[in-house]
Amino acid sequence: MKNITVGITGASGSVYAQSLLKALCASPDVARVDLTLSQAGIRVVNEELGLNAAGTDRRVVKELVGYDAEKVILHAAADIGASIASGSYLADAMVVVPCSMGSLAAIAHGISRDLIHRAADVFMKENRPLILVPRETPFNAIHLENMLKLARLGVRIVPAMPSFYHFPKTIDDLVEHFTHRLLDHLGVAHQQETRWEGSRPKTERMRDGKTERAKAS
Ligand SMILES: Cc1cc2nc3c(=O)[nH]c(=O)nc-3n(C[C@H](O)[C@H](O)[C@H](O)COP(=O)(O)O)c2cc1C
Repeated sequence: MKNITVGITGASGSVYAQSLLKALCASPDVARVDLTLSQAGIRVVNEELGLNAAGTDRRVVKELVGYDAEKVILHAAADIGASIASGSYLADAMVVVPCSMGSLAAIAHGISRDLIHRAADVFMKENRPLILVPRETPFNAIHLENMLKLARLGVRIVPAMPSFYHFPKTIDDLVEHFTHRLLDHLGVAHQQETRWEGSRPKTERMRDGKTERAKAS
């Protein structure tokens, strides 16, 4: 059973955080999810998902996950005394999804301005898996340098870049495929039906893709 730490910052892509949280809550392998939204994260989540929630209001959990999931522990971004701020608190992996360029810079430079940055700092110092999902385009040289610096420190930079080899037809298809990649990095088991299994005739793959989507709908 895993304890997963999730930070949501103010980059575009709240739907990725929502999809991941739903998957973590549904997983029998996950015991606990420590969730923090930055102030900007709350704003973007509200804008992109049409919510009206405050950061420590459990309505945000209900809105994001679809119900008030007990395994989600919500921490205020200003609560630098929360459990996840200490290395003595055992957690298996952390993901910041989506990760703004501001938070990426703060994490790259060890500037723990809020609980998300501090928890990321703790994951690095404790040599635990830290996954960042940056979202920006185009990247400037500062963004790229910060990502390189973090990658060299062992942080996994997993940008929210959709793939198309599984014949996605909807935004949900794209988001779900990316969520499965994140679960792989977090070490959480799942049943992905769109793994690449080597080249097959295009007609066969398209037919399978359609069949799988038809089954899901
Ligand atoms: C609707 C909206 C979308 C945004 N999208 C991005 C984005 O994709 N990437 C990014 O780095 N910043 C984005 N920003 C700006 C960040 O929210 C801003 O830099 C903020 O200070 C980041 O703070 P945080 O890292 O503490 O969440 C966006 C802001 C808004 C309001």
